[in-house]
Amino acid sequence: MPGLVIVGTQWGDEGKGKITDLLAGDASAIVRFQGGNNAGHTIVRHGEEYKFHLIPSGILHADKYCVIGNGVVVDPKVLLEEIEGLRKADISTANLRISSNAHLIMPYHILLDTADELKLGKLSIGTTRRGIGPAYADKALRVGIRVQDLLDEKILRKKIMAALESKQQAIRMLSVRRRKLQKEGEPSDDELPDDRLDLHSITEAYLSYGHRLEPYIADTAKLCWAELDAGRKVIFEGAQAALLDLDHGTYPFVTSSNPIAGAACVGAGVGPTDIDEVWGIVKAYTTRVGSGPFPTELHDEISEYMTERGHEFGTTTGRRRRCGWLDLVALKYAVRLNRTSALAMTKLDVLAGLETLKVAVRYRSREGAVLEDFPYHQSILHNVTPEYVDLPGFGDEITGCRDQKDLPAEALDYIRFISDFVGVPIALVGVGPGHDQNVWISAG
Ligand code: IMP
Repeated sequence: MPGLVIVGTQWGDEGKGKITDLLAGDASAIVRFQGGNNAGHTIVRHGEEYKFHLIPSGILHADKYCVIGNGVVVDPKVLLEEIEGLRKADISTANLRISSNAHLIMPYHILLDTADELKLGKLSIGTTRRGIGPAYADKALRVGIRVQDLLDEKILRKKIMAALESKQQAIRMLSVRRRKLQKEGEPSDDELPDDRLDLHSITEAYLSYGHRLEPYIADTAKLCWAELDAGRKVIFEGAQAALLDLDHGTYPFVTSSNPIAGAACVGAGVGPTDIDEVWGIVKAYTTRVGSGPFPTELHDEISEYMTERGHEFGTTTGRRRRCGWLDLVALKYAVRLNRTSALAMTKLDVLAGLETLKVAVRYRSREGAVLEDFPYHQSILHNVTPEYVDLPGFGDEITGCRDQKDLPAEALDYIRFISDFVGVPIALVGVGPGHDQNVWISAG
């Protein structure tokens, strides 16, 4: 049962793609199990930079299945663009498989998501505006359209018609509010998505996507079973991260799927006993894009330092990421939620040159209570003050280190303090974006 799950332990952008790429060496399949093209992986290989939003990072390994599982929401237009980009870069997509049960992102999902974000709805989450939330909502409402529907014109047309019907009222409301907002001078015209939705053109476009995607559509759960039953290693690659989890994250400032390890089973169609390892990926500091609580966020020259050195701008939307110190209260929570067996720490090199490294070890509530654990009530989290332990920084650049003994003692102390605090070994440390810029850390 050699299933290995890789998940983010913060608010995403921990560098999961790079670690997946690294651990994929002896795997036979890499499977995405949730999220959609709200994710963004950058992998640097032989000096070339590859960016993916939907296709699992494993695509660079021609000898492995690269699977988009049933739990993913697929924008077929984006997927075809990625396939085309890979073709141009001479990277084979012959091993790509897409679950016939995965749900599709439709133009009206993007429209509704964008409208919400432009405050035509009530609350701004700071979503990626890729239609993720509305697509998962339709799935739960049982009016979603699945990848398999692309292969049957009659069914596709019928389902789009039904889905559009249920959106008409929302779209009409949107037009009215849009006109009202325009009168008030905000937001500007070109920010608003086109709200003319036409059954015929959507159906035609999606049929043509289906035609082009057909060679990749498969029963991907069965594929996973075959690999696992033959004793071959399957990697389940999470997108986003624990604190963006729909159930366990900082709701409502979360994504609309479950990026924690338990969801790999649902989103790929395997059982819990198929999983025997869970790797959590943690950045050496914390970042977050979009709205929502972030107790250790900084607004000073140190956050500038992190942004500049860490190139903290979103792969998907280009938004500047909010930066702050590593939050061990939140990390301990994520470690337990995922029951991680090991951690990989990324971007430790970004912290080189800082005199002191702070890590949050507890929170204090507005009323003065000491909180050792991640608070279960959102209002408390919004008002906590983190309490830090100061650890000595390391002055020298570490991007050239490849062995544990090359790392400065202070860097090793930082790593040990964190792994001791959360009770899980940090087995691997990233010291730069390159495929080879890593240091394996031995136990003890
Ligand atoms: P959505 O997933 O587009 O609905 O956005 C919901 C929240 O999740 C927003 O705060 C996004 O910024 C955040 N989010 C979604 N995907 C990612 C990601 O891959 N990295 C970091 N944040 C993400």
